[in-house]
Amino acid sequence: MKNTVVTIRQAKEQGEKLTMLTAYDYSMAKLIDEAGINMILVGDSLGMVMLGYEDTLSVTMEDMIHHTRAVARGASDALVVADMPFMSYQTSVYDAVCNAGRLMKEGRAQAVKLEGGREFAEHIRAITKASIPVVAHLGLTPQSLNAFGGFKVQGKSEEAARKLVEDAKAVEKAGAVAVVLECVPAKLAKLITKQLHIPAIGIGAGADCDGQVLVYQDMLAMFGGFKPKFVKQFAQIGTMMKEAFANYREEVAAGTFPAAEHTFKIEDEVIEKLY
Ligand code: KIV
Repeated sequence: MKNTVVTIRQAKEQGEKLTMLTAYDYSMAKLIDEAGINMILVGDSLGMVMLGYEDTLSVTMEDMIHHTRAVARGASDALVVADMPFMSYQTSVYDAVCNAGRLMKEGRAQAVKLEGGREFAEHIRAITKASIPVVAHLGLTPQSLNAFGGFKVQGKSEEAARKLVEDAKAVEKAGAVAVVLECVPAKLAKLITKQLHIPAIGIGAGADCDGQVLVYQDMLAMFGGFKPKFVKQFAQIGTMMKEAFANYREEVAAGTFPAAEHTFKIEDEVIEKLY
């Protein structure tokens, strides 16, 4: 069944948990889609896990469009959500609408995600008015890394927790179709989830959110040595890949690959004429 902004809202109303994973290319999107995951996020995490930057700040609109197009070709049932990269919406409401439009028109996304709460309510309202569904991202918002002074759990003090609750209500009021809560204490995420009519998708926000999102390299143990506290490694694909690459290297060196079954034949008489 095709996932849409309507079906994800219905899932919340019916108490069905939602799943979201990141993808950045066609083949991974196809595998995730075939596994029945509800939403694929083309996250600006691509800057770190695909392009090797130390944070997400250098990701461009061109990067996002290029990867979103590939993902959209691989996703038939999953709802494709594309991240608005740093400085593609912060500069003005006009920029926000134009760049959200590019992600839909050129990238073939079905929704866009942007980081921020009430300070971006006007942007969310304007993008929504252009018939583009918006997912808001609250809590640890990686594009604000320098303002936060590092990657830290958000909303721990009464003031910060109150601000998060109010931000969540403000983005819902502005028209957001869902909200991502990143690195928010579980009890606070539960309270926010209960107060919203739109789905709250958690990452490091506990089990009481309406759904969960993970970066696929994290959940497959494919990315570096660092494992955030909130990540569960569902498979050790990184180790399996390294073993396969090493086996390939050894078999090529030993001359056991390619074997006869990997080889194309030609009649001996044709070859003899060439000597
Ligand atoms: O960019 C990303 O992958 C994200 C998720 C971590 C939610 O925003």
